[in-house]
Amino acid sequence: MSIKMKLLAGVVLAAAAGFAGAAQAQVKEVQMVHWWTSGGEAAALNVLKSNLAKEGYAWKDVPIAGGGGNQAMTALRAMVTAGNVPTSVQMLGYDITDWAEQGVLADLSPVATKEGWDKVIPAALQKFAKYDGKWVAAPVNVHSVNWIWVNKAVLDKIGGKEPTNWDEFIALLDKAKAAGVIPLAQGGQNWQEATMFDSVVVTTGGLDFYRKAFIDLDPAALSSPTMKLSFERLAKLRTYVDPSFSGRDWNLATAMVIKGDALLQVMGDWAKGEFINAKKAPGTDFMCFRFPGTQGNVVFNSDMFAMFKVGAERQEAQYALASATVDPGFQSSFNVVKGSVPARTDVSDAAFDACGKKGIADLKEAVAKNTLEGSMAQGYGQKAPFRAAYQEVVDKFFNGQIATADDAVKQLVDAINAAK
Ligand code: GAL
Repeated sequence: MSIKMKLLAGVVLAAAAGFAGAAQAQVKEVQMVHWWTSGGEAAALNVLKSNLAKEGYAWKDVPIAGGGGNQAMTALRAMVTAGNVPTSVQMLGYDITDWAEQGVLADLSPVATKEGWDKVIPAALQKFAKYDGKWVAAPVNVHSVNWIWVNKAVLDKIGGKEPTNWDEFIALLDKAKAAGVIPLAQGGQNWQEATMFDSVVVTTGGLDFYRKAFIDLDPAALSSPTMKLSFERLAKLRTYVDPSFSGRDWNLATAMVIKGDALLQVMGDWAKGEFINAKKAPGTDFMCFRFPGTQGNVVFNSDMFAMFKVGAERQEAQYALASATVDPGFQSSFNVVKGSVPARTDVSDAAFDACGKKGIADLKEAVAKNTLEGSMAQGYGQKAPFRAAYQEVVDKFFNGQIATADDAVKQLVDAINAAK
C-alpha cells in the first residue's frame, strides 16, 4: 500500500469512527421549557414524559410558572441571550413566528413530511407551526377561551340554567349573588382578565367585530361604541368577583368553582384539566357552557412545541419529541387529560368526555363555517407587543386604574398605536 493509499484508508477509517462516534453521542434527553405547573397541566405533561421514557428518552424539565406563558417567554429570551438554547419550548402563535423570523428555529420537515402533518393539521394552525414552508413547531392541541365552567350543585341550588346570551348571564350571576355565593371566580393577572375580555368582545360585537378590532386593528372598530360597551360589560363582571382576587392564579380560581365556593369561572378549557385532576365529571359535578352569546364561534389558542436549532447530537431527541407529539394516540390521551382537543383532524372523539366531544364538534363546525379565530389574549391575534398592550389596558381597567370605559377605549387605541 502506498503512503497515499494508507493515508486515504486512515481518513476513511477516521471518518467511519467519527460517524459511529456521532451516532453514539446522541443525547437521549428531551429538554422542555413550559408553564404547565398546575395539577391538571402537570398530569397532562406526564403522558408525554412517560411516552418518551418508553422510547428511552430522559426528560429535562424547565418549568416556568405563570399561566399564559408571559414569564416563560421572558425567561426564554434570557436563556437564548446567554447562549443556552433549549431543545423545545411550549409556545403560542406569533411568538413562534417571531423566533422563526430570527432564523433560530429548527426544521422539523423531515418528520412532518414522513408523517403527513400537512394533511391532518388545520390551516389555522399551520399558519403558526410553519414558517417559510418549513415546520418549526409541533402542534399539541387546540384550546379555546370562550367557555364558562360551572359548579353543577351550586347551579342547581340557585335554580339556574345555561345562559345563552349576555342578559341571561347577568341574571344568573345575580341569582348567585342573591344566594350568597361568589358568582364569578376570577384570578388577578393581566392575561386572565384579557382572556375573559376576548369573550366579552365577541358576545358584544359579534365575531366580525372582534376580527375588525383585533385581527385587522381597524381604528374605527377599536374606538367604537361597541368597544366602549365591551369595557362597560367587563366592569359589570368585575362586580361579581370577590374582594381577594388580586394576584390569584387561574387554577386557584378554578378550585373555588370545584369546591363550590363560587358558581363559575370564565376560562379557557385548560380549566377542565383541573376538574378532571380533582376527579370531577362533566354533567354531574360541573358544566361546560360556551361563553353566553358566543356559541358557534371558537376563539382558539394552540399549544405548540417550538424547536430551536441545536447541535447534531440533540437532533434525534428533537425529532422523537416532534413525532411523539403529533402521534394520534398521544393527541387523544394527552388532550383527554389537558382539557383541550386534538390538533389533528383525524383523531376519534371516543375517549373524550362530553365537554371534550363538544369541543371537537365545535372546532369542526368553526373550521367549516369560518368562525374559528385566534385569541388576542393568548398570542393568536397579534404579535407580542400588541398582546402586551391589550393585556395591560384591560388589566388596568379591571383593577380600577383606568376609571371609565371611555378612557379605556382611548388608552387601548393609544397603546395599540404605540405598539405599531
Ligand atoms: C395557556 C396555555 C394552556 C394553559 C394556560 C394556563 O396559555 O395555552 O395550555 O397552560 O395557559 O397555564
